[in-house]
Amino acid sequence: MPYNAPEGTADMLPAVARLWRSTTETAAKLFAAYGYEPIDTPIFEMTEVFTRGIGEATDVVGKEMFTVRSGENYKRALAAGSDEGLKSKQKLSLRPEGTAGVVRAVVQHNLVEQGAAPAKLFYAGPMFRAERPQKGRLRQFHQIGVECLGATEPTADAEMIIMLMRFYETMGVPRQNMRLLINSMGDDACRPAYRESVRQFILDHEDEMCEECHRRAETNPLRAFDCKNETCSRVMEAAPKITDNLCDDCRTHYEAVKALLDAAGISYIEDPTLVRGLDYYTRTVFEAQVTEGMGSQSAIGGGGRYDKLAESVGGRPTPGLGFALGFERMVLALEAAGALGESTKRVDGYVACVDDSVRAAAFDLVCAARDAGLCVEMDHQGKSLKSQFKMADKVNARVVIVLGPDELSQGKARIRNMRSHAEKLVDIAAAKRLLSQFGGQRVGGASSPINIDTVFSLENDDKE
Ligand code: HAM
Repeated sequence: MPYNAPEGTADMLPAVARLWRSTTETAAKLFAAYGYEPIDTPIFEMTEVFTRGIGEATDVVGKEMFTVRSGENYKRALAAGSDEGLKSKQKLSLRPEGTAGVVRAVVQHNLVEQGAAPAKLFYAGPMFRAERPQKGRLRQFHQIGVECLGATEPTADAEMIIMLMRFYETMGVPRQNMRLLINSMGDDACRPAYRESVRQFILDHEDEMCEECHRRAETNPLRAFDCKNETCSRVMEAAPKITDNLCDDCRTHYEAVKALLDAAGISYIEDPTLVRGLDYYTRTVFEAQVTEGMGSQSAIGGGGRYDKLAESVGGRPTPGLGFALGFERMVLALEAAGALGESTKRVDGYVACVDDSVRAAAFDLVCAARDAGLCVEMDHQGKSLKSQFKMADKVNARVVIVLGPDELSQGKARIRNMRSHAEKLVDIAAAKRLLSQFGGQRVGGASSPINIDTVFSLENDDKE
């Protein structure tokens, strides 16, 4: 029986894989304009990085992490009936998100030196959460994220939000299909008292609320705002709101962020129940949601400030903030809006053989063209000339270069422009001389100064 990809994972077939690559390139270019540099951290980290960073009481850490063990440690833990005996460094988890690992790297490599400019980093890659799979909710999904460490000012928060919205704009997610929610989560000065008031509120309404919320009252009361149970949501509407309980510093910071967004013309909805699912947030939080065609997984990106995270993974106090956006959900949003552009394979040229006698010469020409930086293909299946033209069409070749024994015996090849259907005979030696001037470019290298039209514009030998 053939195997399928594991539940909750999806193969990125070429069209989507191309889109993933072009999306990350677009992100890299856009984020570079805001001063961001790339970073890549391991796909797994010591479990403690996530338990300390994201918070033990979150669903992500409590229920959704994939544990990774070497074969030996797996056997050891199995024999002992628990992994208690394993050392911290032997307890590893696949990253459920990128922030904790990036902040761990920033601390480890001291990327934010005292008094230096903030570290502005972006990343793109797979994340893993053992969630119940459904449309827009995968166990392996892909995020593009940014983290800015060392910035306290509200301008950094506004810049972050603007950058996220500009990204969606650039990708073509229609603004009218989106809403941007923002909130402030307060800080150490105001949140503990607020948290206690929410806990007390839940206890006061215990008989109306679900079991899970009873547990949340003790572990993570603010998560009750996200309870999917309808009665709980209704009850929580009357719960105390963080925005009525912010300390002066947090209020001033939040007001400044909003004023900057207003000035930049970014519309948003203030949602005092937006708490987000990760425990590291302080002050500003935000979430971009799509209103059309996404079902229950409407959040396509989100983030916020986390001024205590660096300390919780062993660093010195370093303010931080960031966001991550889900690639698969963005694709669903583009699809729902009919804005998913086609992603087709395109090559510069296709070298077709009239018969087998010219195959070696065709191969030689293909090699020379590729070495000059052109993207070319040829047949490797012994197909008829007609089928080769079909293949050329399929890969959207701009020109087809036909090698036939008669023309080849005179050192010529026929080039057809697939758009205009114009044809001409060119001298193969002249074409190769031209190509050799660009030799060493290699396909996919720095953008080649040659394009297929240069070859096509070789003097016409054909007097038709
Ligand atoms: P998050 O809200 O957990 O935040 O995830 C960010 C985005 O990842 C979501 O808005 C969603 O689009 C996508 N996503 C999350 N889980 C799944 C899933 N199971 N399947 C498909 N897509 C998913 C974070 O991860 C934070 N690290 C963001 C951040 C960066 N905050 C500060 N810096």
